[in-house]
Amino acid sequence: MQNSLIGFIGAGNMTHAIISGLINNNTNHNQIKISDTNEALLLLRKTEFNIEIFTDNTKLATQCSTIIFAVKPQVLSSVCKNLKNKLTTNTLIISIAAGVRSHDIERWLGGNQAIIRTMPNTPALLNQGITGLFANKQVSNKQKFLAENILNSVGECLWVNDEYLLNAITAVSGSGPAYFFLMLESMTKAGVTLGLDEVVAQKLSIQTALGASMMASRSKDSPQQLRNKVTSKNGTTQAAIESLQNQDFEIIIAHAIRAASDKSNKIGIELSNDE
Ligand SMILES: NC(=O)c1ccc[n+]([C@@H]2O[C@H](COP(=O)([O-])OP(=O)(O)OC[C@H]3O[C@@H](n4cnc5c(N)ncnc54)[C@H](OP(=O)(O)O)[C@@H]3O)[C@@H](O)[C@H]2O)c1
Repeated sequence: MQNSLIGFIGAGNMTHAIISGLINNNTNHNQIKISDTNEALLLLRKTEFNIEIFTDNTKLATQCSTIIFAVKPQVLSSVCKNLKNKLTTNTLIISIAAGVRSHDIERWLGGNQAIIRTMPNTPALLNQGITGLFANKQVSNKQKFLAENILNSVGECLWVNDEYLLNAITAVSGSGPAYFFLMLESMTKAGVTLGLDEVVAQKLSIQTALGASMMASRSKDSPQQLRNKVTSKNGTTQAAIESLQNQDFEIIIAHAIRAASDKSNKIGIELSNDE
């Protein structure tokens, strides 16, 4: 096993995003390997990144010091069980599979494994993601640093000490892009109702969201302070904000995020009942 080799199991969208990020950040293509059951996809990745490919997960896993599980949550238990007792205790596992809990991954692999469970989000595809990470007790500081470096190549990273909080992260940032897409849809429809052309209304909505996000991320002010600054007394913005608040906007959002968090927890429990 070579110390610096990173192996990806699953060659799909997220793997594509992370490998692109790693290579753009000067990771050598010889340090990256990939396995998948889909040979056509593997050949595509080989052409794109000039990396070694495998159709046998075990062959890849026994060569790499860090293995990234990037398969769908429903197939992760069988992927792990096929690797059971074949990995050294020095191997670091990073799972990006939504919902699957670290102790289940450890149990399926045969125990005593360093596991980092993560929750990235789709803007990772544009290097604008944010990933929540949780490390089990076997993970060393060096391994944490390594995982952070890998996931920083597609955006920002945040650690949590309690794995349960990954449900909240899933609810806020994992599913979050869809809430903003819904907001864009709703603003576009409202603009059309007021007489704007749909293309124009959509462009106005998207660029406004982009500008507002950039302002919020670069400003020292909180989102609430920024909102207060753009809300003149008795003005148009105040009319809209009051309308939203009178219809319990905050409560609607709180309920939606709670529903996503509860669902994430439920999926974790269901995926745990594999036997
Ligand atoms: N996409 C996102 O925005 C996002 C965000 C956060 C977390 N995630 C998580 O990231 C993980 C990967 O997502 P993705 O969108 O990259 O999925 P994806 O595009 O479907 O890629 C998964 C790949 O794994 C392959 N595969 C299936 N069984 C396998 C096995 N036994 N051994 C090796 N490879 C196997 C699949 O092949 P087949 O297609 O032939 O089955 C597919 O090529 C998921 O667990 C998801 O929950 C994704």
